[in-house]
Amino acid sequence: MKKIIYYYSGTGNSLRAAITIAESLDGAVLYSVRNDSQKVSAKDADVIGFVCPVYEWDVPGVFKSFIENLDINPNAYIFMVATYIAVHGRCFETVEDILSKKNAHFSYGRALRCVASQCTAYPPFPPEKIMLPYMERQTKKISSEIVARKNIPYPHMSSLTRRRYQNTMGPYIAIEHEYDKGFYTDDRCIGCSTCEKVCPNQNITMSEKRPVWNHHCHGCNACVVYCPTKAIQFKTPKAYQELGTFISKILRLPEKRKRYHHPLIKACDLMKDIIHIE
Ligand SMILES: Cc1cc2nc3c(=O)[nH]c(=O)nc-3n(C[C@H](O)[C@H](O)[C@H](O)COP(=O)(O)O)c2cc1C
Repeated sequence: MKKIIYYYSGTGNSLRAAITIAESLDGAVLYSVRNDSQKVSAKDADVIGFVCPVYEWDVPGVFKSFIENLDINPNAYIFMVATYIAVHGRCFETVEDILSKKNAHFSYGRALRCVASQCTAYPPFPPEKIMLPYMERQTKKISSEIVARKNIPYPHMSSLTRRRYQNTMGPYIAIEHEYDKGFYTDDRCIGCSTCEKVCPNQNITMSEKRPVWNHHCHGCNACVVYCPTKAIQFKTPKAYQELGTFISKILRLPEKRKRYHHPLIKACDLMKDIIHIE
């Protein structure tokens, strides 16, 4: 029986969830969306999973285009797990719409609350010592439901979120691809190209041993948080700065912005395009 999980992850929350689910599914293969979807087709898969973060109340654009180009077995058990902090928005609807054009449908969908990953805009929250054990417990529960092939309807976008989507998210979506315009390296950069290799969007190229950001960014923060010398600095776009100030104020977050990534996911894990789980 062929079991495939496709994932997108910037700071490791989604990859950690994908690996945990794959470990409970005997012999599952994990594919990063950096692959060519035609070459890692799910045409003959019996179990197909999608695991990704929520960005701007939706799925990351790269993840969406990957699924649009993917061949799928419409009779497979298809599941999706979206990692998020507060509002999952329309992420499940977006993928379900793509699937339905391929005569396929979700059997299972769950949103998994995680530590906030956008440390270039606001500090990570809630505290890791509370969230990490919670994330592990929830992912194990999700895994056992998937192993049991449960049919669980995915969470829908609330009517309030639907009404507010365009006005609230529009300004962020408009500038998201150039989030990287404020990224630069200081003299701690050792030219190791970790940033280039962990970027899930393949947005970074190296020139004279320094990263160049090519403005098809999703603001995932992988380059910033996985830089081994903390050499990548940033100037956050104004709209995101305002969002960060707002979130920090209402949640009374500390000034200090720790460079969060999931502690069990290392840079070398994010560099892989294929992960085989024994
Ligand atoms: C650019 C960006 C946009 C985000 N947008 C949302 C959002 O709309 N709703 C939400 O609940 N979380 C949002 N988040 C938080 C992430 O979905 C969450 O931290 C996720 O677990 C990160 O997954 P990863 O570690 O696999 O990259 C956003 C994070 C980033 C970096």
